[in-house]
Amino acid sequence: MKSSRRSFLEAGLGLPVVLNAAPSFAGVLQSSETPAVKDSSFDPWIEIFPGNLRHNVQEIVRRAGSRPILAVIKNNGYGLGVTNVAQILDPQPEVFGFAVVKFHEAVSLRDAGVRKPILLLGPFDEINLADCVARNIMPMVYTPLGPALDKIAAKTQKPVPLHICIDTGIGRVGVPYHEAAPLVRDLASRKSVQIQGTMMTFTEDFDFDKEQLRRFNELCSSFESQGIALGRKHAASSFTLFQHPDAFLDMVRPGMAIYGIYSENEFRHTNVMELRPAVSLKARVIYVKKLRKGDSAGYNRAYLAKDDVWIATLPVGHADGWPRTAAKGAKVRINGQLYPVIASVSASHCIAEIGNQECVKIGDVATFFDSQLGSRPEDVSESCGASVYDLTMHLNPLLPRRII
Ligand SMILES: Cc1ncc(COP(=O)(O)O)c(C=O)c1O
Repeated sequence: MKSSRRSFLEAGLGLPVVLNAAPSFAGVLQSSETPAVKDSSFDPWIEIFPGNLRHNVQEIVRRAGSRPILAVIKNNGYGLGVTNVAQILDPQPEVFGFAVVKFHEAVSLRDAGVRKPILLLGPFDEINLADCVARNIMPMVYTPLGPALDKIAAKTQKPVPLHICIDTGIGRVGVPYHEAAPLVRDLASRKSVQIQGTMMTFTEDFDFDKEQLRRFNELCSSFESQGIALGRKHAASSFTLFQHPDAFLDMVRPGMAIYGIYSENEFRHTNVMELRPAVSLKARVIYVKKLRKGDSAGYNRAYLAKDDVWIATLPVGHADGWPRTAAKGAKVRINGQLYPVIASVSASHCIAEIGNQECVKIGDVATFFDSQLGSRPEDVSESCGASVYDLTMHLNPLLPRRII
């Protein structure tokens, strides 16, 4: 089959409806200084489904007994684009606010007009802290920051709202629960501080989570019995939503479930929440050819054709966020059929094995993952061992995001 790139573009062959949709571009692509889109139609793109995001929020509300949701949208909104996700979820009354890790993400949300509370889970210095306060971004605190908070509050003449992070066993950030008392008492005693929340993170080890919750509850009760107001207590990620209803506390704090993806494959087979993937990765076939028996494909000749076989080259590689392990069992959907990814995933390409018929042509749309059974992110994860977190969070921020 002969089809040059130019003739394909001129003929507009097979252009999907999505190209007619008003594209929305995340992060740097939203800058007004960015020139009009220059992507060739063969370059990969990411589709975002706001209807599914809203559906998943409703499922979480149903599961969490109407508790408010602090939506975790860190790491570029799990790949969907941090401002895209926030702007879609901002009007949802069930979404109390947003949590991010990177300071610049918090700032970009305010710059994009997001008005709901923002919690910064990540690190900051004193200058960042003053910027946070100026932009109404709440810091997550676990070190003796009292004097710095006093200085800022003296300038603004308002207490600084913040959340305190307690480490009950994850050993990452947070003041260790057995050393937390002096810090919490110090913060609570300052006029410069308004404790709006107190939080912890589970290790997601089912049994140890129970011990973590016991530590947290005991500590919080002890503070509260001393008259210390801790604000909203929260701990529940997506895993907790499925596994520990006794840990929903005053607010839930999921990420992955919002994007409609089961954080653990076994959760798919429960009826706890019906989640619909809100993201898909697509690109067009750039080349179709026949390998003869004995021909090879991929670096290190990773694939050797046992017979004559048609293959399709796809312009998506690990630099786009498609994991290298995809060549170990993942499938891509082209024209409704699933085809195995073979050989190796290189930085910008991968190869699908089509079979003994040439049933795919240049320009056909290939879906790497979407919301259909067989090509959901969890299916890709199950087939090749890539984590669903890697599939979404590693999506290259420069790929265009199209809101469908
Ligand atoms: C502190 C914290 N809370 C909540 C979440 C949400 O986790 P998940 O995406 O598994 O729901 C994360 C994500 O890793 C996190 O770091």
